[in-house]
Amino acid sequence: MKIDVKCISDVHVRSELLVVNHYEGDKQLGEAAKSADKALSGMIAKMVKEGEIDGKLGKITLIHNTGRLKAKRLAVVGLGKREKLDLDAVRCAAAAVVNKAREIKARSIATVVHGAGKGGLDIELASKALVEGSVLGVYRFAGYAKEKEPALFQADRLILIESDRRKIKSIRAGAELGRIIAEAENRARDLVNAPSNKMTPTGFAKLSGHIAKISKLKFTSLDPKKEGMGALCSVAKGSDEPPRLVAIEYRGNPKSKEKIALVGKGITFDSGGISLKPSKNMEEMKTDMAGAAAVLGIMSLLSDIKPKKNVIGVIPLTENMPSGHATKPGDVATSLSGYTIEVINTDAEGRLILADAITYAKKRGATKIIDIATLTGGCIIALGDTASGIIGNDDEMIGQLIKIGNECGQKMWQLPLYDEYKEMMKSKIADLKNSSETGKASPSTGAAFLSKFVGDTPWAHLDIAGTACLTKSSKYLVEGATGVPVRAIIEWLLNY
Ligand code: BES
Ligand code: ZN
Ligand code: ZN
Repeated sequence: MKIDVKCISDVHVRSELLVVNHYEGDKQLGEAAKSADKALSGMIAKMVKEGEIDGKLGKITLIHNTGRLKAKRLAVVGLGKREKLDLDAVRCAAAAVVNKAREIKARSIATVVHGAGKGGLDIELASKALVEGSVLGVYRFAGYAKEKEPALFQADRLILIESDRRKIKSIRAGAELGRIIAEAENRARDLVNAPSNKMTPTGFAKLSGHIAKISKLKFTSLDPKKEGMGALCSVAKGSDEPPRLVAIEYRGNPKSKEKIALVGKGITFDSGGISLKPSKNMEEMKTDMAGAAAVLGIMSLLSDIKPKKNVIGVIPLTENMPSGHATKPGDVATSLSGYTIEVINTDAEGRLILADAITYAKKRGATKIIDIATLTGGCIIALGDTASGIIGNDDEMIGQLIKIGNECGQKMWQLPLYDEYKEMMKSKIADLKNSSETGKASPSTGAAFLSKFVGDTPWAHLDIAGTACLTKSSKYLVEGATGVPVRAIIEWLLNY
């Protein structure tokens, strides 16, 4: 979808679908709706009066142009109650529009910037949210079918219109940033939606190298066996696919010694290993690399948006499979840090690969760590698909991430890291065990395990087991991968 910004009034713009908006409960039309209304001889005002246009968030009323508009049809999209309007409402309204355009096969959409008039939102931020909602909302995974679904139709042009020339520059800036960010999130979604035979550790590593090359970033691809990454290798042992650890480094502030490490869990398929998972829904475990996909998505746009930070993305990659070579419950692995780990449950594999990746990130000079992982089923029980769990040793960073998450529609909720949880991860025969036998408080005990490898480095762990994928489309999220938390982390890098 190509995105343009034009200085033109709504009645004059040519497109297959012109979009104006209306707030729930408002008797008066907004400025753009008013001028369109005039060209349609009072049709919109009449429909508002009769309650057919009620302004509910995301609700769309289509009107064919039988008047003096240059556009083929008009869509009035509801923005919800004005006092509740925020940037996420703009994203939702935009997503509803692109999906309506798909339904009616409109090739071009011309839209006013929602929320920037009577809504009082900053026009640059509103333009960014509008484009994010459109690009995220129109996304569908292409898939592999020979017979393509009609649902894959998309408008090829989105034009943001504004009649006041002084606002155009801000709209352009917001729209461009929104496009870059949403496209990165869609890239992450594509990786997560791909099945494990198409997205192997080797394939993911190759793709990472390709992305690093395009972005002119330093790229490292390692054989974990040669590096002494025994925790990562203990997971890989049961699989015929060789494991890999890749790192991509962006230097946006070369004078600074600060380096943020983004570490993403990259299990391209989690069968559970010898502690085999039940077969029902096991296919969903192709998405156990959503943390890795988010990290790669984020790294892919840093050269475009140029935050003044140094960032290293570290991605451990492997399958978790059962076989005659696989790690067995009770086995002991020696991690890169030297700490030994008793593997109680081979299905608690994410923390094993993260342990070595975190140690590696520290060796590469990380001064702050954020790890992103589909780590525990317990996090889904606690928070559902509404919020990611966030746990760590740095309340300031956690507070910033929670605030940013709330603003960009990627909620996070803090769970505790009490010493009791660390106690629960102590082994009788090794430094640590990878799972407590009770299974209690698994998001916190999982984080407690990781904290041993993090040490004193400021750190936040994001458990995205519940938020990485959806079984039902909602707002600007489509069924399948969500791309969480690409936007939140980018906003954090740009704003803190
Ligand atoms: N990949 C799973 C967690 C998961 C479950 C993600 C469902 C998405 C949906 C992880 O590797 C796992 O199996 N965790 C175990 C840990 C336990 C054995 C301590 C779990 O949560 O059951
Ligand atoms: Zn597992
Ligand atoms: Zn897993």
